[in-house]
Amino acid sequence: MTPLFETGFGHALKLARYPERKHEELQAFDAADSLLLEELASDRPALADKRILVVGDAFGALSVPLATYGVTTYTDSFSSARAIARNADRNPSETKSTPRIVHRLADLEGPYDLVLLRPPKNLAYLEDLLATLSSKLAPGARLVAGVMVKHQSDGAFELLERLVGPTRTSLAKKKARLIFADFVRAPSVSPFPRDVRLDGFDRPFHHPSNLFSRERLDIGTRFFLEHLPAGDARSILDLGCANGIVGIAAGRMHPAARVTYTDDSWMAVESAKENHARFGEGREADFAWTNAYEDGPDEAHDLVLCNPPFHQGTTVGDQIAGAMFHQAHRVLRPGGRLRVIGNAHLGYPARLARIFGGIEPVARNAKFTVVDAIKR
Ligand SMILES: C[S@@+](CC[C@H](N)C(=O)[O-])C[C@H]1O[C@@H](n2cnc3c(N)ncnc32)[C@H](O)[C@@H]1O
Repeated sequence: MTPLFETGFGHALKLARYPERKHEELQAFDAADSLLLEELASDRPALADKRILVVGDAFGALSVPLATYGVTTYTDSFSSARAIARNADRNPSETKSTPRIVHRLADLEGPYDLVLLRPPKNLAYLEDLLATLSSKLAPGARLVAGVMVKHQSDGAFELLERLVGPTRTSLAKKKARLIFADFVRAPSVSPFPRDVRLDGFDRPFHHPSNLFSRERLDIGTRFFLEHLPAGDARSILDLGCANGIVGIAAGRMHPAARVTYTDDSWMAVESAKENHARFGEGREADFAWTNAYEDGPDEAHDLVLCNPPFHQGTTVGDQIAGAMFHQAHRVLRPGGRLRVIGNAHLGYPARLARIFGGIEPVARNAKFTVVDAIKR
C-alpha cells in the first residue's frame, strides 16, 4: 500500500516513487520535504502572489502539494519528471492543477520570488543551478533549501553564500534542516558546460555539470572501452550513456551501425548528442531521455552496451541495473549480445544469468568484471 504523505496544507497525498518497485515500500518523501512544506504552510496567504520554483524534487512531494500555487518544477531526471507527473495525476482532487515541469535549465523563465531547493550532492551541479538561477531571481528572492542532516555539506553552504547571499539554518527536526538565503549577490555566469580532454580523442568532450565522471575518464569506463566487441552490428544501444563515449567508441568498431544513446539525465543525453556530433564520424544516431529504455522498440538492436549506475539519487542499490538488464533483453534481437561491466562484488553475472539463461565471461581485473549475455 502506498503510504500517505501529510503535506501540512491539509492534504494526505498518495505518492509513489518512479520507477515503482514490486517488493519494496521505499517512501517517496522524507523529513526535509515535510519541513519545507511546514515552513511554507505557516504563512499560506503570502504564497498566493509569489512565483515559486521547485528544484530537485525527486518524486513530487513538493511540486504536487504546491501545484495549486502555479509552481514550476525543474529536474534533470526523467524518472523524477515521470514521478512528479504521475503523482499529480494520482491526487487530482487534492491538487486541482499540475505543476509545470522543466528539464532544460535554459527554459527556466523567472523572475522567481521563492525557490525551494533539494540540493544535489554533486557540487558542480549545485553551482550550475545557483549560477543559472542568479539571473532568474527577483531582487531579494528567498531560497529555502531542505536537507537531510547526513547529506548536508560545507561545500553547499559556501556556494549558497557566494552565489545567493548570507545563510541561516533552522533547528534540525527528524534529522532534517532548512537553510535560508535571500538573494543579494550580483547575477553570475555558470562555468558549465565545460570542454574536457579524454585519452584517445584529439578534441575535447562536452561535459555539463550533472554528468557521470564529469572531470575525467572513469576507471570502469576505461576498462570497458578496452573490451568492446568489434564486428558488423547494425544497431547498437548505449544504455545509460552519460557523455556517449561508449557508443561513440563502439560505433567506430561497427562501421555500419546506427547508435542509440539513452540516459535518465537530460544533461547526459544533451552531452551525448553534442559528443556524437563531434566524434561520431557522421554516423546516424538516436537519443532518448528515458528510464533504462522502457519505451524502446522490441527486438531492434544487435548489441547493447551497459555500465549501470548503482544508485538512484541517494538510494544505493542494483534495481536500476536490473531494470536495464530486463530492457536490454527485450530490445535485443534473438542472437543479440548485451555486454555489461560492473564492480566485481556486485553480482551482475548471476542476475544476468537468471534473465538470459547464461553468461559468457569476457574480462576481469581486480575491480571490474565484463560479461556477455546472449539473447536466445
Ligand atoms: C556508471 S554511468 C555509465 C556512463 C557511461 N556509459 C560510461 O560507461 O562511462 C551510468 C549512467 O546511467 C545513467 N542512469 C542512471 N539511472 C538511469 C535510468 N534509470 N535510466 C537510464 N539511465 C540511467 C546515469 O545518469 C549515468 O549516466
